Amino acid sequence: MKKRILVTGRLPQEIMASLSEKYEAEINVEDKPLERQKFLDSVKDKHGLLSMITDSVDEEALGGANSLKMIAQFGVGYNNIDVTAATKRGIPVSNTPGVLTDATAEIAFALILAISRRLVEGDRMTREGRFRCWAPMLFLGHEVTGKTLGIIGMGKIGKAVAQRAKCFRMPILYHSRSRMSKSEEKELMARYVDMKALLSQSDFISLHVPLTDQTRHLIGKQELSLMKPTVYLINTSRGPVVDEKALLETLRNGRIGGAGLDVYENEPALTPGLAELDNVILLPHVGSGTLETRFRMATMAVENLIAGLSGKVPPNLVNPEVLPKTRL
Ligand code: DGY
Repeated sequence: MKKRILVTGRLPQEIMASLSEKYEAEINVEDKPLERQKFLDSVKDKHGLLSMITDSVDEEALGGANSLKMIAQFGVGYNNIDVTAATKRGIPVSNTPGVLTDATAEIAFALILAISRRLVEGDRMTREGRFRCWAPMLFLGHEVTGKTLGIIGMGKIGKAVAQRAKCFRMPILYHSRSRMSKSEEKELMARYVDMKALLSQSDFISLHVPLTDQTRHLIGKQELSLMKPTVYLINTSRGPVVDEKALLETLRNGRIGGAGLDVYENEPALTPGLAELDNVILLPHVGSGTLETRFRMATMAVENLIAGLSGKVPPNLVNPEVLPKTRL
């Protein structure tokens, strides 16, 4: 008998076809999350779950899913999954690290360039017929080259952003759970500093931390008040890392230069008022949104799912402590 799986988002056609051949697969082919009740009902009798970052895989969902043997997340971040609750029930959880590093670093860097050189504003102005003449002091932005970039969270994506910054001769200040080796710091022109120094000395600040209890509202009113009045804040990590209300007030008052955001505190909702500001660029969570990367993520999630459902250790297991009590 084929094992039953639930895939909560539409994946590349050939990948969905191969899953349907191997398993009795229920696949949500709409490009929007399953309604909560539908998700709870669908996961109930499944052996495997290929989840999206928009699914809340919590106590309630896990409590009703007694056959569940494997959760393969489509994404590197997995704050939507209660990993402790899954581990308690002997369910391995995997993610898709590494394959989206370059795509996400590209978006962070695109936001750095776009916000400081006012690309979106300029496009809007030109389309609306407001570009009437060239003049030396009109529509000026700020140069990126040579400016100090503060990176909070120097994991794979943080490092990939730092590598790109080298081409722009940007000195790097960074703060992270762990320090890089001396040679890596030299290679990336990066100096480890405390949060206060990073916040007050950087011209750009880019966030690359996972969302945890420790990083929720890591950037709030107090932190924003320490930043330079010209700083640009870039967030491609998770929305709740920034207190969005505090950011809105800071941007509204022109207290910082601007912000480039790909993620939101209550995604997809925006804090009212944010979309009215010119000094912020708002993207629809597309850090990993390239055809190439999404294909690699899907392939990796499926490899993890298949490994888990065939009683093997998934290559990208995030809860190795589950192994002694696994349901595999
Ligand atoms: C991730 O993988 O965590 C991304 O945010 C999804 O694109």
